[in-house]
Amino acid sequence: MEATNYIAVNKETWNNKVPVHIDSNFYDMESFLNGKNTLPDIDLELLGDIKNKSILHLQCHFGQDSLSLARLGAKVTGVDLSDKAIEKAKELNEQLQLNATFICCDVYETLEHIKEKFDIVYTSYGTIGWLPDLEKWAKVISEALKPNGKFVFVEFHPVLWMFDDDFKEIKYHYHNEKPILEEYTGTYANKEAAITTNYIGWNHSLSEVFKALSNNGLQMEHFQEYNYSNYNCFNETIEFKSGKFRIKHLENKIPMMYSLVSKKL
Ligand SMILES: C[S@@+](CC[C@H](N)C(=O)[O-])C[C@H]1O[C@@H](n2cnc3c(N)ncnc32)[C@H](O)[C@@H]1O
Repeated sequence: MEATNYIAVNKETWNNKVPVHIDSNFYDMESFLNGKNTLPDIDLELLGDIKNKSILHLQCHFGQDSLSLARLGAKVTGVDLSDKAIEKAKELNEQLQLNATFICCDVYETLEHIKEKFDIVYTSYGTIGWLPDLEKWAKVISEALKPNGKFVFVEFHPVLWMFDDDFKEIKYHYHNEKPILEEYTGTYANKEAAITTNYIGWNHSLSEVFKALSNNGLQMEHFQEYNYSNYNCFNETIEFKSGKFRIKHLENKIPMMYSLVSKKL
């Protein structure tokens, strides 16, 4: 595995995960099809009133969150690298008779596929770890936004990605030292699933995120860290309140997510 080949490696990984995720309790397709909004409260609050707003949703996976935004009246364009994910997102859009648009491409190529500028760019939970260069990412976000448009970002905290899978020891750098090339069995949505995938990722410190956004004309208006996760997607977790998860033996000692809103100047 070569880090330079990360697009092909990660595309195959995500394509293999899609059918497993569609069948998982984690993504609970039945509730979604019956009208459940999949967006966490933190995200909904930061997005604000999205009725009739245009939203570019980066790394949208197979579209549950994008279509939840569409159900709330937004005009949504979802982007993802995985053709299997985009195929499913388009199918769900038809099935639910919504009006979202989906594009299959690398985040860095988004601008080649869109003509309009957006009121909001949104991306969340497990996104930038797949991207080597945050300056390029922030440039895409900035150029896709209308003046005064807002970028809404909710992500797992980089401190989490320093640990081994069971949160027993520090295994990786906090800062972006080098690509991480690994093999993983199961997926966060079904840890018992009989799939083994290769992936290539990067750890991005908070300062790297802040610098990339600010260098690309995105002024921070909100930033918050949380000592829990909205999702039960890690090992060794405990649900200490309904819908809120921590690593059992680490309790509330580490940050697990952060949220950020920036305005395009
Ligand atoms: C963890 S998921 C996003 C989480 C999403 N909030 C969800 O759970 O539905 C990460 C997504 O990023 C996509 N992805 C990875 N690398 C990408 C790239 N270079 N360009 C666009 N999408 C990418 C994957 O295909 C996957 O669907």
